[in-house]
Amino acid sequence: YTGMMCSSQNPKGFSKEDLQGLQAKLDEAQNSLHARRESGNLDFSLLLPSMLSQLPELCEYADQAASRFENFVVLGIGGSALGPLAVQQALNHYYYNELAPEKRFGRSRFYVLDNIDPLRFRELGQILDPQKTLYNVISKSGNTSETMAQFLIVRDYLRHFCGESYADHLVVTTDQQKGNLLPIALKEGFKRFVIPSGIGGRFSELTPVGLLAAAICGIDVEQLLAGAIEMDRRIRETKGVFGNPAQLKTALSYLSWQKGKNISVFMPYVDGLKTMADWYAQLWAESLGKRYDRLGKEVTLGQTPVKALGVTDQHSQIQLYTEGPDDKVITFLTLKEFRVTQEIPEDLTLPEDIRFLGGKTLEELLFAEQKATEYALTKAGRQHLKIILSALTPYNIGQLLLLLEWETAYMGELLNINAFDQPGVEEGKNGTYGLMGRPGYEAEKLAIEAYGSE
Ligand code: PA5
Repeated sequence: YTGMMCSSQNPKGFSKEDLQGLQAKLDEAQNSLHARRESGNLDFSLLLPSMLSQLPELCEYADQAASRFENFVVLGIGGSALGPLAVQQALNHYYYNELAPEKRFGRSRFYVLDNIDPLRFRELGQILDPQKTLYNVISKSGNTSETMAQFLIVRDYLRHFCGESYADHLVVTTDQQKGNLLPIALKEGFKRFVIPSGIGGRFSELTPVGLLAAAICGIDVEQLLAGAIEMDRRIRETKGVFGNPAQLKTALSYLSWQKGKNISVFMPYVDGLKTMADWYAQLWAESLGKRYDRLGKEVTLGQTPVKALGVTDQHSQIQLYTEGPDDKVITFLTLKEFRVTQEIPEDLTLPEDIRFLGGKTLEELLFAEQKATEYALTKAGRQHLKIILSALTPYNIGQLLLLLEWETAYMGELLNINAFDQPGVEEGKNGTYGLMGRPGYEAEKLAIEAYGSE
């Protein structure tokens, strides 16, 4: 986090004392969150050990499903889709679906339908053989219009093509007690996995929401959880802002936000982590973008997350970050080393201005680009920090997910808002119910129609 700190090139950066000055607030946040967790009122990471105990059943089902079905399709949106996507893309071959089955170790191809664009929906149906496809309907509430509409179409289609065995092609991940998906799943006999109560969508990757998809695609879910459990332990047990990773990350985010950095750019320098930026963007935006604080006072807070990819977006966004308004804090996400090396061939006949690349590697070039970008930002007085993973492993990804989840929760405490709800999303969901004719939402329909006719 040198790029966040005060230096001759960046006199506006923070001092150690700035960070230490937040210690009392951070401890208070930590104590409050952990006390709520102990008393069962905060579920998002409490459940890691209990997830571990559910793994044998989940993995057994995943193994059977992967050997039976060529394709595995997630039907879900928001927190029910972004985590599965991010983890699979981070940990599997970049072109996983295009690999021959033996190179996928016989695991299913993986698709996530996280939108209701009818063209994409139809076109995915055109490339998948229904007999060889398993659909995972994921909805915590069991009520989300997009997911339920997809489910109804797919169920119809499966009934048509698979006859009585259609139910074997559907697995449902939803709440244990609530929602409209649950009774349908029970009545029609779909295999079912439970999203533990109290866990919001964007905090649910390390529950069956993400674990089932990961297991079906051959990811070591035990290691994913082991990494998360270890990060959780470090966060619980390490005292002091400079040692506790969640406290440190929160302190840097909070101070930068206080200094007018209204935009948080998340910029992995690894293609496989591109969708991790989508997952982070939802986590940060939906958890911290709030109009009211916990006492109901209007506060209108939030820090806008922006997704970028290094080095690609050096050629589209860095100009703005370096010379535009100083309202951004940039988090780089990099690797210590890639699992492959790609040499750049030497050609001594070329002019020197190209020849210098020969004999180096693509990784060297990528690391140089990242470092040079850090330097350019520092020189321009812009703040940035870096998360370095030693390698792309399930263990490290588990740690990363949990660190970012805890940071978000801490930020909620420091800002005195509820990081675990999303009233602004519910408003839109309810409006959609109204417009689509769901009983009980007539007032929403009338209000929107009146607005539309203005
Ligand atoms: O984080 C959240 O809670 C939301 O993004 C939800 O995941 C999203 O709205 C989908 O909801 P559900 O899983 O209930 O269908």
